Amino acid sequence: MRVAVFGAGYVGLVTGACFAELGHDVVVRDVVEEKIETLRRGDVPIHEEGLGELLGRNRPRLRFTTAVEEAVEGADVVYVAVGTPPTYSGDADLSAVWTVVDELPRTDRRLILAMKSTVPVGTGRIVRHRLDARELENVGYVSNPEFTAEGTAVRDFMHPDRVVVGAFDPADADVVEEVHRGIEAPVIRCDVASAEMIKLAANAALVTRISFINEIANVCEATGADVVTVAEGIGLDRRIGSAFLRAGIGFGGSCFPKDSLALKQLAANSGYNFQLLNAVIEVNELQKRRVIGKLERRLGPLRDKKVALLGLAFKPGTDDMREAPSLVLAGRLLAEGAEVTAWDPVADGRIHLHGVEIAGSALEALDGVDAAVLVTEWPELRELDWAEAGARMRNRLIVDGRNMLDPGELRALGFEYEGIGRATE
Ligand SMILES: NC(=O)c1ccc[n+]([C@@H]2O[C@H](COP(=O)([O-])OP(=O)(O)OC[C@H]3O[C@@H](n4cnc5c(N)ncnc54)[C@H](O)[C@@H]3O)[C@@H](O)[C@H]2O)c1
Repeated sequence: MRVAVFGAGYVGLVTGACFAELGHDVVVRDVVEEKIETLRRGDVPIHEEGLGELLGRNRPRLRFTTAVEEAVEGADVVYVAVGTPPTYSGDADLSAVWTVVDELPRTDRRLILAMKSTVPVGTGRIVRHRLDARELENVGYVSNPEFTAEGTAVRDFMHPDRVVVGAFDPADADVVEEVHRGIEAPVIRCDVASAEMIKLAANAALVTRISFINEIANVCEATGADVVTVAEGIGLDRRIGSAFLRAGIGFGGSCFPKDSLALKQLAANSGYNFQLLNAVIEVNELQKRRVIGKLERRLGPLRDKKVALLGLAFKPGTDDMREAPSLVLAGRLLAEGAEVTAWDPVADGRIHLHGVEIAGSALEALDGVDAAVLVTEWPELRELDWAEAGARMRNRLIVDGRNMLDPGELRALGFEYEGIGRATE
């Protein structure tokens, strides 16, 4: 089949590359000329495991363009994978989606517009009206939300837990199912609104688990229990399961914060106060800031103290720093008058962090610091020579924001170690 993908970002590129891998002819369209040039040269503008290889292997079936007509010409399905960031009010900003809908060229053949961008419930209905107003009745509409996680997106796309296809017309759903031929997964066929809600509810469920275990961690800290052991103990309960029960310094990224806010706002706009989700968001905001309290308890006022942030991406395996806890931490530390150094193996801190000294290596970031904060659980940090790290630090304090390191080993090296929800000494 011929597939067009609008948006060459984290989702659009993975979608394009994976559909090409399934044997389809794919054209990826973006409005950013530079991105398209990079892709045409054979380079990959983002850090995502396996993506470069997949794009390279499927080059004969992949094209990149900025031209709408070139992308849509002959296409059976046009995927929308443009950004839907939050507006000031917390609603999703759908302006890029509307641009795609409004610039869709007229064709004589049947064409399916498939939504991969995460959008509020009700968006599909509005898109349908807009298409009808342009007399584009030959364009079908399907909600086909994306559940991939950055860092494992290629694997997630090729081996999803499920494929959700919400359509107004069953024949359109058939086409979208056909595009997925070769992918083994249960298919949920439903109405458009339910498909839209499945995406938002899935992310809401995941962030609820994160804030839940973070609150358990905070109570563990206050009562002397260890959240890592507690999470293992509850995770083995089949009714609960072990995924998303790692306590830490809160969730970030381009999806969880914005999608939870969008669902909260969607509920509020519909007259419903989603109290649980409000609390989940609030807990997450406070969780990021708890690190500051931990540092202050050990170091006193942070003015003129030097603190290293290890890891800047919102999670390992990606260079994405959107809504990363590192941004809040850096901002708070600078506001307290601390000097901040930082390191990340792939994320470019220079773009996002002003006033922070970006180091070329983790060890370099630790030179002369009063404390290190492990912000992102990069495997490189587990492998770090912590004896050498300790020798470089002015004061051997580590706040392990992801409970990644072995407290016993670090204490044996003379570190003061503090995790999240773990007993302190
Ligand atoms: N990042 C993820 O892991 C993930 C996972 C699931 C769902 N989503 C959802 O997918 C959507 C895209 O997310 P992303 O992280 O890939 O965003 P992104 O910002 O990385 O990419 C969006 C791309 O769309 C391009 N664009 C904007 N207007 C365009 C237009 N008119 N035509 C073509 N391209 C246009 C932008 O230039 C950009 O390259 C969002 O709604 C997001 O919530 C993201």
